[in-house]
Amino acid sequence: MTQDELKLAVARAARDYVADSLPIGAILGVGTGSTANFFIDQLATIKDRLGGTVASSEATAQRLAGHGMRVLDLNDVEAMGIYVDGADEIDHGMAMIKGGGGALTREKIVAAVADTFVCICDGSKRVAVMGRFPLPVEVIPMSRAYVARELAKLGGTPRLREGFVTDNGNLILDVHGLSITDPAGLESRINEIVGVVTNGLFARRGADVLLLAMPDGVQIFKR
Ligand code: 5RP
Repeated sequence: MTQDELKLAVARAARDYVADSLPIGAILGVGTGSTANFFIDQLATIKDRLGGTVASSEATAQRLAGHGMRVLDLNDVEAMGIYVDGADEIDHGMAMIKGGGGALTREKIVAAVADTFVCICDGSKRVAVMGRFPLPVEVIPMSRAYVARELAKLGGTPRLREGFVTDNGNLILDVHGLSITDPAGLESRINEIVGVVTNGLFARRGADVLLLAMPDGVQIFKR
């Protein structure tokens, strides 16, 4: 199977999960990235069941609206049953690295509101120890050099994501060379650096459900 076929398979499984688990008329959070895009296209087939959606990026909002789905401001939403999103890496404790698409801050905010985080990805993303994928850190532009020096003290090699500005008007430092044995500890440690908006470790609020596309079918893991 190609990676796109795996993404399509997990997107269909996620649509079925939402159809089975989310009460009719409830609000769904929708993530960002190529796997999330497959999911959005599948979601269109059950859009009449949804009360509305909340998007984790401008790109996702546009794609949802393009399918005729209602996109709500998170501030107008009191409760969200499920948030569906991809990941760059996920470990066996359901902690993730996210932000390959640069939407980590909004993703983390929407995930914080949702009751259940459903992670969708293919088998290549499941790892024993995270860090091979560079860890994205969103920073306020004037703090870029300072934050990079502080991240280097933690053992990583930060590199500015060239030519990229987040939906929030900030920059991304991608931190290479980390071996993340304590995801929750590192998530907190990086967030303490002044100038950091968010980092792409989703450990304190990890996934609750993982739908993992393998060549022989989609496997389900629960926290
Ligand atoms: C975007 C993300 C994505 O979920 C992550 O990068 C995975 O993307 P893809 O499904 O394209 O591999 O965190 O900020």
